[in-house]
Amino acid sequence: MPYRCPRALLAAALLWAGAAPAQPAAPSPSAPARQACHAVTPATCALAHALGRGVNLGNALEAPREGDWGVRAEPALVELAARNFRTVRLPVRWSNHAAPTADAKIDEAFARRVDEVVDALLARGVYVILNVHHYSQITGGNLHKHEFAVDPEVVDVRLVNLWRQIGKRYKDRPQRLVFELLNEPHTRLDGEPWNRLAAQALAAVRETNPERAVMIGPGFWNNVKELPRLKLPPDRNLVVSVHSYEPYGFTHQGITWAPRPMPTGITCCSPAQRQAMTAVLERARDWNREHGVPVHLGEFGAHSAGDMASRVAWTRHMRTEAERLGIGWAWWELASDFSGAYSLETRQWVEPIRRALLD
Ligand code: BGC
Repeated sequence: MPYRCPRALLAAALLWAGAAPAQPAAPSPSAPARQACHAVTPATCALAHALGRGVNLGNALEAPREGDWGVRAEPALVELAARNFRTVRLPVRWSNHAAPTADAKIDEAFARRVDEVVDALLARGVYVILNVHHYSQITGGNLHKHEFAVDPEVVDVRLVNLWRQIGKRYKDRPQRLVFELLNEPHTRLDGEPWNRLAAQALAAVRETNPERAVMIGPGFWNNVKELPRLKLPPDRNLVVSVHSYEPYGFTHQGITWAPRPMPTGITCCSPAQRQAMTAVLERARDWNREHGVPVHLGEFGAHSAGDMASRVAWTRHMRTEAERLGIGWAWWELASDFSGAYSLETRQWVEPIRRALLD
């Protein structure tokens, strides 16, 4: 019988995590769905449910150098994210700010910059998901401009050693800080290679953080279809992160980085499209019921090349379906041109997207 986290435990765990959630979720008419938690501790179960509505502070610290992709994790954005969402996922490209050698010694000035942002967010009472993002070589991808290559022999061990250092650095932060081992493992890492490497990276974290919640996602870009191949290490403080950009042709229309041009003019959401979107989330929910490890939707978003009415319909459907199933979510992303909810040009919300997410 799956263990479902009672409300009293949720409240206790929030206190334990030092949490004063910045923005309580809007009251819902019926009790929200709970995920199965028979393979995690009550505290991690409660945390997974408390993550609620979130946003990615994307394109800032995971650019090869902060600012390269037009966004800085400036105080105004940190404040905006923390005031409006309960969770902020903070993508960070540690691999490009660390020695190219096996020890991957992290550049102290960069680490202090990350400290600043993490601590500002924690001080605002939100949950923070800190990850390793865009270590291109580890998935066999092309390097981005200003990203350096390392000896192929040390690519994987560097991830483990990055986590040993990140774990040590943040071991005394509140439990509202969650680690996520790697954004979207794919290609070179799909299947067993990722299962093995994730276990090693987790062991490095556990040397200093015995109980902190850690997120691990399946291969193939954290796609739910890969969940059956994900073998989690035996550990009772894990949350599984999945991403969904289904239907991909709609959400990624007009992107500039695709190998082939992605046609534009694709609309959303027909009954068949809605069904496909819901199916992804229900698949995650079914996996959760079977395995008892909570799931989190760490990224979803629809590229700004789509028409606004369709993007709003897509966003609202994804968000309400995730909430119906008791799955916390984080929008991709706050303020860049993929699907930013806030415009850095006008310094205003992209109001239709904001409403679809939060109203
Ligand atoms: C990547 C972004 C990309 C987004 C949508 C994220 O995981 O980091 O660069 O815009 O997915 O494809």
